[in-house]
Amino acid sequence: MKVTVVGAGAVGASCAEYIAMKNFAAEVVLLDIKEGFAEGKAMDLMQCSSLNGFDTMITGTTGDYSKTANSDVCVITSGIPRKPGMTREELIGINAGIVKNVATSLLQYSPNTIIIVVSNPMDTMTYLVHKATNLPKNKIIGMGGALDSARFKYRLAEALGCPTSDVDGMVIGGHSDVGMVPLIEKATRNSVNVSEFLSNDKMAQIVEDTKVGGATLTKLLGTSAWYAPGAAVSELVKAIALDSQKMFPCSALVEGEYGLNDLCIGVPCVLGKNGIERIVEVSLSAAEKAKMAESADGVSKTNSLLEVNA
Ligand code: 2OP
Repeated sequence: MKVTVVGAGAVGASCAEYIAMKNFAAEVVLLDIKEGFAEGKAMDLMQCSSLNGFDTMITGTTGDYSKTANSDVCVITSGIPRKPGMTREELIGINAGIVKNVATSLLQYSPNTIIIVVSNPMDTMTYLVHKATNLPKNKIIGMGGALDSARFKYRLAEALGCPTSDVDGMVIGGHSDVGMVPLIEKATRNSVNVSEFLSNDKMAQIVEDTKVGGATLTKLLGTSAWYAPGAAVSELVKAIALDSQKMFPCSALVEGEYGLNDLCIGVPCVLGKNGIERIVEVSLSAAEKAKMAESADGVSKTNSLLEVNA
């Protein structure tokens, strides 16, 4: 498998690193517009190969899309990250132009690629890629829910005093501080609902901490996070590479699922060699349905700020 990662910043580089460490891809191309930056990151990462034992070939290029030709998966991380106090939505003006241009450039050389969108505001950027390209909907995947679910599991494990491998949980809805819908009613520890171990107040706190997971890190780091975002992308790419049929919440174009239409939002998706193999409709409680509808309203409002000229 050949993977291109556009944007060799912290998220793009960690994404390339985790893909290489998991050793399922033959080739990763890092592309950035900053002269020499992607080449430097690629060289630094390749100098880890004998130390960390991976065979993936990582190369870098300054803006030469011909080097990305025939990629099976392209990951778009480009754009400006948020600074402390900024919402993901505030990035729309700058990032929309960048993401549209990157997606169309990638498709010139890899017309059959699957695109994973990471740039924020992610659900709206994913929708923009749909509008700006003619790719079938299974080939455009927004990465948010896999990350938000990892943050949810971290908070659950922290509260339960157990390893994250004991817990399971999923976050659907928009990838925004207000729009995320952590499915706390369905979260489990070793198949037992977490409500058997945690008070209602504690569960409400976990939900709130999960929703501001990215903002909390932005405040601490001065810029947005990269390890967990990179790791989350690498898991999506791996599921595609191995045709694993693993389920992740991803931002996908909904056409009636969950009663929603004409937007991209986090819903459970089965991933395999075709990208999104199918969207899974799980039954939601009345409270979860109401939160999902509210989240969709928020994403649609952000989408309405887009000027799509496709
Ligand atoms: C995050 O939540 C960058 O949106 C990403 O950290």
